[in-house]
Amino acid sequence: MKKLACFFVYVFVCMGMHAEAQTARKVKPKLPAGSKAISPHLFGIFFEDINYAADGGLYAELIQNRSFEYTASDNREWHPLTAWRYTTEGFGYGTISVETNAPIHANNPHYAVLNVEDEGREGVGLTNTGFDGIAIKAGEQYDLSVFLKQLSDNAIPVTVYLKSRKGKLSNEAAFSTQSKDWKKYTATITATETNDSAMLVIVAKTKGKLALDMISLFPQKTFKNRPNGLRADLAQAIADLQPKFMRFPGGCLVHGDGLGNIYHWKHTIGPVEQRIGQRNIWNYHQSVGLGYFEYFQFCEDIGAKPLPVVAAGVSCQNSGGTWRIGGTGQKGFTQEEMKAYIQDILDLIEYANGSPATTWGAKRAAAGHPEPFHLEYIGIGNEDKITPVFRERFRMIYDVVHAKHPEITIIGTTGPFHSGEDYDLGWQFANEIKVDMVDEHYYEKPEWFINNLKRYDNYSRAASKVYVGEYAAHDAGRKNTLRSSLAEALYMTSLERNGDVVQFSSYAPLLGRRGHTQWNPNLIYFTGTQVCPTINYYVQKLFANNEGDLYYSNIITANVPDTAKTFAASCVKDSKTGDIILKIVNRDSVVVPAKINLGSLGSLNGKATVTTLSGDPMAENRCDAAQNILPKTSNITISKSFLYQAPAFSLSVIRIQNRSMGKK
Ligand code: AHR
Repeated sequence: MKKLACFFVYVFVCMGMHAEAQTARKVKPKLPAGSKAISPHLFGIFFEDINYAADGGLYAELIQNRSFEYTASDNREWHPLTAWRYTTEGFGYGTISVETNAPIHANNPHYAVLNVEDEGREGVGLTNTGFDGIAIKAGEQYDLSVFLKQLSDNAIPVTVYLKSRKGKLSNEAAFSTQSKDWKKYTATITATETNDSAMLVIVAKTKGKLALDMISLFPQKTFKNRPNGLRADLAQAIADLQPKFMRFPGGCLVHGDGLGNIYHWKHTIGPVEQRIGQRNIWNYHQSVGLGYFEYFQFCEDIGAKPLPVVAAGVSCQNSGGTWRIGGTGQKGFTQEEMKAYIQDILDLIEYANGSPATTWGAKRAAAGHPEPFHLEYIGIGNEDKITPVFRERFRMIYDVVHAKHPEITIIGTTGPFHSGEDYDLGWQFANEIKVDMVDEHYYEKPEWFINNLKRYDNYSRAASKVYVGEYAAHDAGRKNTLRSSLAEALYMTSLERNGDVVQFSSYAPLLGRRGHTQWNPNLIYFTGTQVCPTINYYVQKLFANNEGDLYYSNIITANVPDTAKTFAASCVKDSKTGDIILKIVNRDSVVVPAKINLGSLGSLNGKATVTTLSGDPMAENRCDAAQNILPKTSNITISKSFLYQAPAFSLSVIRIQNRSMGKK
């Protein structure tokens, strides 16, 4: 035993005593003994339109390139008729062109013009192939809308329906043009069969000429039945995480590929046909149908604090290239441009929080939301190179926003990596101007995470707070293995332990459409019909569903070599419910007995649930295979002091219900 004691130490899983002592000086006296206050919103999400996360993803629009705005600058292979086919079934003929001289709105310049010379038996028109086909369900209703403009003297009857290669899959919606100006026509289509690769056909049934634009099809069942809404199954998977906040709309998407590609929130609100779509830095097109109003509304719908990020007045340093090879360098807005840009940021705050009597609050109210969206946080910059150009522009934005809105917490950036020049300069700059919080990013091997479990233990408690805005453990082949998930779980216990410094954290990226990923791994994969949460998703879910606001040290110990770095645990209390939550991560191949001593926590309910996630460390949950690794919950009986046998390769979450609440 003595010998063993030389090799093994009881690992006190809640370290950072020095840091805790510092915090204790600031802590309000009413905290329960042995606890420290931690962020109650530590686990959230980061949504970026990458991997078809928005168009072809969360945004429920089923028509691809609905407004004929795709161009070769979005993607070299693309043009305004991408995803469309000229349709002349039944021996009709005519011509199709894309024009720009009299659009619905200047922001949406392209539209299709159909000149039917002979309608044949079936009419002449266009067929849309959706995003890898249009997924429809028998009996479900779909909202169709289209803008038409009659260009010939005669009225033109138009029919619209869903079909497969074998035949029709819906009823026909029919309208006749009524105007020589643009007019919106709407109808409901009911699918008669389930099909994951349907097409939408729109055909003119007589000779004549007409213009078409904004050909749109939404399932009626969107998330919370919102018009212009979100795909219900994907949105629900995100909601099930119970994220406490949502960072959006990017990432690299925000600071853009060159100054002209910077994301402007004002381009993304108002009637969808008047929004300004643009090239997506990830090599496709963003329609911005999922825009700032929809982002704010989604945050509200899922109970997440909105955390928008705006560019710091500079473009990505890798513009024109890639983040791996670099690019032409960071460019900044001119001083004149900065004035308007800063005003846009102030307007964003007014759009979110201003009364309907204000200019921008009125636009929110007009969109159907007179109540404020309760914006508390704003990110300025993303992974920017910390240059004089950046510093000057960040400072200009920071000073104005801080002075006009001291109630808003501003989140700065410390460059793309967890260390190195930009990280050091970013922190130096943040300390200089006392930025409220900074955003750190790291995509690293699982080993990096387990070697850095103490990263935040010695961060100054007096400096800026931290948002770990993007992170993921990248296993070999960029696979979402159980062992990568458990490296993240180990690390997340350290975020809880340091929840007095780390205020927010979010895995990245969130979504990836199979066949359209620019980045792997992602948290949730999907196809047109499937949602496939990874094992990493369940880790995030277990932590986010079991957050606390008080952290207790030294509750869980295990007889594990300190150097092994295979075991970590945390103990938090959720003051709202009074529940005590223990998280125990064992990344070893053997069962580890964890000693749990709840003596200092007062009287507790003897009943608890334990949810475990465990299995083959190389296992993955994939869309094209069985989802093998799923959380399993059972009841357990606990006592003041007990041993928990942590399974090999596992995360266990033990939730002990507050006795008094249990009695009610
Ligand atoms: O999450 C994908 C990308 O990674 C983000 O856009 C960027 O911020 C980071 O480099």
